[in-house]
Amino acid sequence: MTIKQGVAPRLRGKRVLCAGRLYCDLVMGGLPTAPIAGQEVYADTLAMTAGGGAYITAAYLVALGREVGLSALIPAEPFAGPIASELAAAGIDLAPCAFAPAGLDPQITVALVMGDDRAFVTRRSGPAVPSDLPDLIAAGGYDHLHIGELATLAEMPDIVARAKAAHMTVSVDCAWDTQVLARGDLVDLLAGADVFLPNRVEAAALARHAPLAAYAPLVVVKNGKNGAEAFAQGHQTHRPALPVKVVDTVGAGDAFNAGFLDRWLDGANLTECLDAGARVASVALARQGGARGVERLARHRAAAE
Ligand SMILES: Nc1ncnc2c1ncn2[C@@H]1O[C@H](COP(=O)(O)OP(=O)(O)OP(=O)(O)O)[C@@H](O)[C@H]1O
Ligand SMILES: [Mg+2]
Repeated sequence: MTIKQGVAPRLRGKRVLCAGRLYCDLVMGGLPTAPIAGQEVYADTLAMTAGGGAYITAAYLVALGREVGLSALIPAEPFAGPIASELAAAGIDLAPCAFAPAGLDPQITVALVMGDDRAFVTRRSGPAVPSDLPDLIAAGGYDHLHIGELATLAEMPDIVARAKAAHMTVSVDCAWDTQVLARGDLVDLLAGADVFLPNRVEAAALARHAPLAAYAPLVVVKNGKNGAEAFAQGHQTHRPALPVKVVDTVGAGDAFNAGFLDRWLDGANLTECLDAGARVASVALARQGGARGVERLARHRAAAE
């Protein structure tokens, strides 16, 4: 199979490479209750979309006008076709992607939606990213590396150092992973990363090992409807979330990353970066699903500009 590439919007500025696991999300909506062992519950809706932080952040960065590549493995058949079509339509450069090796289970997340609550079951399968990611970084075609899950960095621990050697800046989202968050060496694992973006629950788990500020020169803690806080050079900057009628929280944190990083890569101050993150997150919150069909977004401008 080949991937038919969509037409990217007009792109500008620093080029970003997003790396991390790509999932096929099967979202079962309208469940009356959580499933109970030995019983059955029935969903009202079923949607199938691409998921995973690297892809969602990449799609929103493209929507903001950035040139973005994605280094990920496209889940195995029978899901490869629809997932590849969604990726191609997003305008992301898919040249760094590869198809999952034959014989692997498809990498799937089943999301069970019960009112405001949701539960996930995920089958991770095979490696997180194509094995040629280090070569791609060394080739020097990108200015910034964004790693969608700390677990991907744990799997390829030298990619931050390789990116720094290629004069790239680096950001890392955390994403919940009990085993990874229990590790005592996460400060060392993140050494060299410029921006680290956990959510509040992840930050609490990380703070058991070391003060948050030890993880990166700039740590941004996303805190749902309470907004987000940046920790840098001994200072804290808090900015609120935007009031929004929430349709679906899937991908809010990854969309926030895109808005924040887009302005950070342009050298904006932390207030502007946090506000841009909140604005792009609010777009994700007001629509169904991860990033499928995201429209071109106007770039954030501070009121004073
Ligand atoms: N209920 C909400 N109302 C308004 N804004 C919200 C709400 N939930 C999330 N946001 C916005 O989205 C941002 C990121 O959300 P959150 O803190 O939930 O990240 P996350 O837990 O990493 O998300 P994800 O589940 O996508 O990984 C917040 O900083 C805020 O701007
Ligand atoms: Mg998150």
